Amino acid sequence: MWQQVALVLSILVTLSPAATTPWTYNCAPPVKPGTCLLKAVKIQDKDVIQPAATPSSDLEVCFEGSQLDYLPEALFGKFPKLETLGASRVGLKKLLAGNFAKPATLKRVDISSNYVGALPDSVFGTCVNLEVINVAENRLQLFNGVELIGCGKLRSLNVSSNRLIYFNWDPLVDLRQLEEVDLSDNLVGEMVVPKYVKKIVARNNHIHKLRTDRESFIFMLEQLDVSRNRLGNVDTLARFAKMTHIDLSYNRLLSLDFGLFRHMRGLRELNLAHNNIFAVTTSALKPLTLELVDLSNNELTRLSAVDSAGISSVERLLLNNNYLVSLEVTKGATNFPRIRSVTLDGNDWACRDIESTIAELKTKKVAVPSSEAKCSPNQIIREGLCCRDLGSSFEELVLLKAEKLAEIQQSSATPSTSTIKSVTQKAATVATPQSTTTNRPTKPDLDPTTSALKQAEAQIATLTSEKATLQATLAKAQNDIKALGEKLARCKSTVNQRTGQTVLID
Ligand SMILES: *[C@@H]1O[C@H](CO)[C@@H](O)[C@H](O)[C@H]1NC(C)=O
Repeated sequence: MWQQVALVLSILVTLSPAATTPWTYNCAPPVKPGTCLLKAVKIQDKDVIQPAATPSSDLEVCFEGSQLDYLPEALFGKFPKLETLGASRVGLKKLLAGNFAKPATLKRVDISSNYVGALPDSVFGTCVNLEVINVAENRLQLFNGVELIGCGKLRSLNVSSNRLIYFNWDPLVDLRQLEEVDLSDNLVGEMVVPKYVKKIVARNNHIHKLRTDRESFIFMLEQLDVSRNRLGNVDTLARFAKMTHIDLSYNRLLSLDFGLFRHMRGLRELNLAHNNIFAVTTSALKPLTLELVDLSNNELTRLSAVDSAGISSVERLLLNNNYLVSLEVTKGATNFPRIRSVTLDGNDWACRDIESTIAELKTKKVAVPSSEAKCSPNQIIREGLCCRDLGSSFEELVLLKAEKLAEIQQSSATPSTSTIKSVTQKAATVATPQSTTTNRPTKPDLDPTTSALKQAEAQIATLTSEKATLQATLAKAQNDIKALGEKLARCKSTVNQRTGQTVLID
């Protein structure tokens, strides 16, 4: 049967006199019945392809090693039952109006890896049967979505690796079968999650805003990859109760409240790595049985049992490469009931603390994998982790110095009444007093937004320059930063971030 079809096909297709060589539908021996594999086809812009005399009943057409400046209408006339068109890597330069409008049987179109710069509004026609559209790796700059109106059966849309600066999400809202949208590697600035879509891959864009339809309450979204974007606020996520995988890595998050995820009973993986998170909190507790939480490569300094309660039921926790001085692990690691593995390397532990933390984790056979190769000069290695040999626990040190600080504050009679506190992102790490020889910190030309924190630091600095004091200052600063971070999370509405500084008005 196949040989017959192939024979018929091989005879065919006439060309206009304008074209130099006639074009024939020479189907290569099929991999599977109903498939026409067309090899080494060449169609140039100037070629006019005439309709074929005999139609073929093949359902699938694939091009291989071909060069097609455009897709002639005659091609679709030749295959009136076509369901799948594979025209990837054929050098396609443009699409014609109504290019995929006929045949109406068309279900899958793959024109990825070409040079298409625009989708004509009517490119898919009435679009009644299209299920899969792959336009990845082209040169699209705009996606206005009008071309998808009517694509009621569309399941998958792939526009990744184009040059999209604008993506109109509105037309997607009505596509009830649309499960998956991939728009990764573009320049899109905003995302509006449509209610029926289950999976969105929007990796590596310029997304700074995550929105959704205020009127809708049920969303199907299960998997969201918005890694490598510019998100500083992800509050909208709270609307998506069916989420199982969330990837927010490489964004601009400063703080996060795990209460945000409390309705997501199916959440398995939460990737928050490579942000600037310096404070996490848990405002509303509903334990989630997470498999993986990645908080690595952030700016955490402390993680208390209360703050981490929202993710306490995790199996694998990544905390490496932060500035952690303290991780609260209760006796027998009961505050992490399901934990099996935790990474702790690349932090700022005091040896005594990390030894006792690991001792508790070991009672539950928790793995603590470490890739610590070389410690910094002021660190030694304990339990495979770099730590500072302070001779006491960090908390003791802080307590001691806090008492001293209280004494000083009592004796210096001028309490700060400033109502504006300012904190810059890196304050936690630059809290070390600049100079131990600074005089009183009340110079008249000081920045009016100088915080009580800074004054306190300077006071300490004038007292003594011993190393332990610097440690205490740092700890105090870290504590205050964290408190501010929590405040920040609570009063977002009053935050003004235009200057790159976060100004908080109490
Ligand atoms: C979209 O296309 C790209 C490039 O061809 C591919 O790597 C990616 O896996 C596709 N996305 C989906 C969700 O299939």
